[in-house]
Amino acid sequence: MRRVVGILLALAMMSFGVASAAPAGKVTVLCSPNPAWCDAVKAEFPKATGLQVDFVRLSSGEALARLRAERQNPSFDVWFGGTGDPHIVANEEGLTEFLRPRAWTDLRAEFRDAVAGKYIPLYAGILGWAVNERLLNEKNLPVPRTWRDLADPRYKGLVAYPNPNTSGTGYTLVATLVQVYGEKTAFDLLKAIHKNVAEYSRSGAGPGQLAGRGEVAVGITFVHDAVDQVLKGFPITYGAPRDGTGYEIGGLSLVKATQNRANAVAFIDWALTPEAQALAASEGQSYQIPSNGKTGVPRIAPRFQDFNVIKYDFLKYGSAAVRDGLVKKWTTEVFPLPK
Ligand code: F6P
Repeated sequence: MRRVVGILLALAMMSFGVASAAPAGKVTVLCSPNPAWCDAVKAEFPKATGLQVDFVRLSSGEALARLRAERQNPSFDVWFGGTGDPHIVANEEGLTEFLRPRAWTDLRAEFRDAVAGKYIPLYAGILGWAVNERLLNEKNLPVPRTWRDLADPRYKGLVAYPNPNTSGTGYTLVATLVQVYGEKTAFDLLKAIHKNVAEYSRSGAGPGQLAGRGEVAVGITFVHDAVDQVLKGFPITYGAPRDGTGYEIGGLSLVKATQNRANAVAFIDWALTPEAQALAASEGQSYQIPSNGKTGVPRIAPRFQDFNVIKYDFLKYGSAAVRDGLVKKWTTEVFPLPK
């Protein structure tokens, strides 16, 4: 008799949806950092919140293109990571919406101020390069010290950097050179370096991997991505040009047209906790400087004081007109040139 009552009760609860085993909800994330970090987020967010995560990994420029294409009916709720410039474009174009997360006052003030409420800072990383010194030694070539050195014809076929159309790292390089040298000289330099480029990679981590495998001698990448290659045992050293280098403030944004706002906000709040941010280095093979001042900075993370870092103008170089203009100029004036 007790069994029959139990079954009836269970059926009644199911009909009210009380006993459903289905998860409480899900967040769909456009994830732009190292895929290992996206995997760690997918594994840990449900443990903290009971919500599931689906993600697609796209480089920063590809992610912006996807958000633009899906403006009316986005498949994503949150954009997690990626360089800041396209997050600013997305905000300017109404694709994303800035909100003040729970941890706002814990986020490093210098990161918050630099992006002026266009998106939520997630981390910072310095642009530099991965160098395969073994290959340079074999060819009797010195380690380059400046951006200008990369234009030396002796490095022909030995340089790689990411395509600024797809990669936020690639765009950070173009915007950095323009800020260091002015647009005219920067593009002359890019044209000269083009003659030495073996490959324009799709993603920002690609050039460091090419240097690690000895396919090129210098891979322009964020220094923390070169650190990842070193920790994996590849024979590279890392550094940044002495004539001045740029940096990123990686972004976190709410997709404006999401139909899943409460879960998206829960994800954003979780992603900024020290526990979630610590996953980057512990599980995610990612060694940036975390935005939350309460999150420990990984021991191995490249530090600003060790490089000649410029005062990068995020608002100017993240405006759609400037960014799209520079990317277009690179695509029409640099990329098609003969080598
Ligand atoms: O691999 C991590 C990372 O360097 C992030 O720090 C950065 O925001 C992102 O990749 C940029 O990737 P991409 O250049 O492929 O857009």
